[in-house]
Amino acid sequence: MGLNELLQLRRGRAVWADPSRALATLESFARTEEDGGRDIATAARRVTDVELRGHLERHARDEVRHAELFRRRARELRESGVGGADATAGSEKGYDLSRGRPSAEVDAHGFFRVGLLDELGELPYVAMLHVAEQRAARLFDIHARLTRDDPPTHEIFREILRDERYHVAWTAAMLERWRQRGDADAVRRALKTARTGRAMGAWKRAGARAGVGFGRVLMLVTWVTLMVPFGLVARRRRGGESGWMSARRTRATAAAAERSAARDALTRLRSQA
Ligand SMILES: [Fe+2]
Ligand SMILES: [Fe+2]
Repeated sequence: MGLNELLQLRRGRAVWADPSRALATLESFARTEEDGGRDIATAARRVTDVELRGHLERHARDEVRHAELFRRRARELRESGVGGADATAGSEKGYDLSRGRPSAEVDAHGFFRVGLLDELGELPYVAMLHVAEQRAARLFDIHARLTRDDPPTHEIFREILRDERYHVAWTAAMLERWRQRGDADAVRRALKTARTGRAMGAWKRAGARAGVGFGRVLMLVTWVTLMVPFGLVARRRRGGESGWMSARRTRATAAAAERSAARDALTRLRSQA
């Protein structure tokens, strides 16, 4: 289990233990899925490849349905008395798939905007979808595990997870088809771009969240990896003719040199007398 998954598990436990945060999370997921569905539907109308269009149309319908499932569960929680001002105003930003988007070129689901689909072509768009769907599947798998004590919510995550796995599978199949047609290098580059963008986004997100704490960790790592070895080397060399010396020792050495010079001057005066 990676560090990222451990962090998500930890945060997820806190979310589902707090009904208001759970409600905000469901509503955040609903917005994200709806955004994704809308953009994929637009992309489906623009692509020329018939097979790709079929996958995108089904994919778009899935995302819209996911939004409805999340919204319906959020409504049930509200009707059962969960909510209030805090839940309405807040949203679980950490679970919004829009977090860590590589740039404004990517929509709230982490997909390329359709303008970029026109500009870059179908292959990079599908590569970005593939990476985004892998991430969504991992995220929803975690939430499915964390909501076992809440069967209605748990069932929603399980159902959505099945669709997300289909999204990962069809995008992988399309990329494989391009590879087989001689575009292996283009597929590799597009996946690398998608993953690098996501990795950078995650790094920036971690930095922003941790704030001062992150800076402290960075300073500690720098100190241990650079300053400690350097200091040890300097300490080993202190016995010799060079190296760092403590301020106290430097002052003592200077005083001894002054005394020696004074003795030499006195000796010279006596010999001249
Ligand atoms: Fe989805
Ligand atoms: Fe999806």
